[in-house]
Amino acid sequence: DWTMPNYVDEAVARVREQVGNDEVILGLSGGVDSSVVAALLHKAIGTQLTCVFVDNGLLRLNEAEQVMDTFARNLGVKVIHVDASAEFMKHLGGVTDPEQKRKIIGREFVEVFQRESAKLPNAKWLAQGTIYPDVIESAGAKTKKAHAIKSHHNVGGLPDTLHLKLLEPLRELFKDEVRELGVALGLPHEMVYRHPFPGPGLGVRILGEVKAEFADLLRRADAIFIEELRASGWYEKTSQAFAVFLPVKSVGVMGDGRTYEYVVALRAIQTQDFMTAHWAELPYSLLGKVSNRIINEVRGINRVVYDISGKPPATIEWE
Ligand code: XMP
Repeated sequence: DWTMPNYVDEAVARVREQVGNDEVILGLSGGVDSSVVAALLHKAIGTQLTCVFVDNGLLRLNEAEQVMDTFARNLGVKVIHVDASAEFMKHLGGVTDPEQKRKIIGREFVEVFQRESAKLPNAKWLAQGTIYPDVIESAGAKTKKAHAIKSHHNVGGLPDTLHLKLLEPLRELFKDEVRELGVALGLPHEMVYRHPFPGPGLGVRILGEVKAEFADLLRRADAIFIEELRASGWYEKTSQAFAVFLPVKSVGVMGDGRTYEYVVALRAIQTQDFMTAHWAELPYSLLGKVSNRIINEVRGINRVVYDISGKPPATIEWE
């Protein structure tokens, strides 16, 4: 009989057999797939695993702390936490084109990851959170590429110049199976059932040029939106939800004064496959509460709008 606990034992045994006494490196992003790989490998090979977590300055509020809490402090996984935000920001300076931004963020990640892995000369394996749909997608990549609207950069896209063997223990699993495995391995429910987050992170949710100041405002607005979605039970009813920073200033009034500040757009969608999507019909009362909180709590934002565009013709992300 197939059960998840048996599957955990089998997967652990398979990793041990494959890896032996070798050391393994994993790029931990905080996303579901790499998190589940980290938990599985930690269970299977303990200290033979070293994770590299790169903070690119484009993560969600407190994300780095949460990853370090879950993996390093609670589970005792070896995690190298690299704060590369200044470096990412420097390279993104003056760049406004969305695809150019994706390229830079992807390239910088590889750069930082390679630098860190050079400090682990004994590593023989590079673990990745490739799941079954990724395998199918890359098999069809030749035909798909011509139709791709956005280039995707994930932790997965590392070059083979690292001379490491690939370890992909989730290769046979669908997303819901990966989540079940994560729960069986003891990962927190919120981590395993989190909405997807794009590899370039807030880099494609800050329209135009990325600045650290914009990222700070966006992180706070986004955290309020997500907190209220969770509190109202709407987080589970939406497939993805986030705030977008618009580098446009509009006039407002606060107390006796006039304000001239930035705009945040809220996006929440429902979808099966992310190829098409409906905007979520969130209750007006919820939208009103989120808007009030953002404007009152995030100085620098004085206007909040809700995105009511479907995909197609709009995409889910704004860039
Ligand atoms: P779009 O905006 O194309 O998004 O409708 C569809 C899904 O893909 C995610 N997305 C990305 N994921 N790197 C990623 O890893 C990217 O560059 C990227 N762009 C979009 C998006 O969040 C949505 O889930």
